[in-house]
Amino acid sequence: MSADDQKRIAGAAAADLVEDGMVVGLGTGSTAVWFVKALGARILASGGLNLTCVSTSKATADLAMSLGMKIAELGETRTIDLTVDGADEIGPGLSLIKGAGAALLREKLVWEASARCVVIADASKQMQVLGTKYPLPIEVETYGHKTTANRICDVLAEFDIGTAPRLRVTDGIPVRTDGGNLIYDAVCGRIEEPAALGAALKSLTGVVEHGLFLDLADRALIGTDDGVITVEP
Ligand code: A5P
Repeated sequence: MSADDQKRIAGAAAADLVEDGMVVGLGTGSTAVWFVKALGARILASGGLNLTCVSTSKATADLAMSLGMKIAELGETRTIDLTVDGADEIGPGLSLIKGAGAALLREKLVWEASARCVVIADASKQMQVLGTKYPLPIEVETYGHKTTANRICDVLAEFDIGTAPRLRVTDGIPVRTDGGNLIYDAVCGRIEEPAALGAALKSLTGVVEHGLFLDLADRALIGTDDGVITVEP
């Protein structure tokens, strides 16, 4: 089964968790797209599944609205019952790296406002240790970003991570998040102390958010060649 098929079955399994009347957080990225499409199909088939959705990005909101879903701003609903989103890496205890799609800040805001968070992924995303495959994205305020990057570098060195963070650029142009910030990607190798690293990065003025999602996921649904497996922390 291709990675895309694994993402598709994970997204469909997550859509089955949604119940009538829920407020649902919609993630960002290629796996979350499968979830949103499966949810759209469920709404169509049910002829009356009444949902309100809170999106983690403009791209996902556009897709959801094109499928007829009702979108609310974060904070407009009483709570978020369930958020479903992808991840770049899924490590021990459902610790995660997120942000390859540059939506990490809005994702974390929605995740933290959710009663339950389910991460969906293809089988390649499971890791023994975080940081071994994907860089850690760090969202940074534009003003003085090179100074902030130097300070990030110092923090990484304290954690024996020797590489400098790289400004994310596409076609020669710095990538902007939906909120207008920049992204620096840090190739970490092995992140042995994710909580301490996350706290140290967050303490830097100019760092808006980092892509370590710790103690936030309640369940992972992972698409494999043998079907969807459930992992809990
Ligand atoms: C978006 O900023 C990310 O956090 C994505 O959720 C993550 O990169 C997973 O993306 P894919 O589902 O495309 O692999």
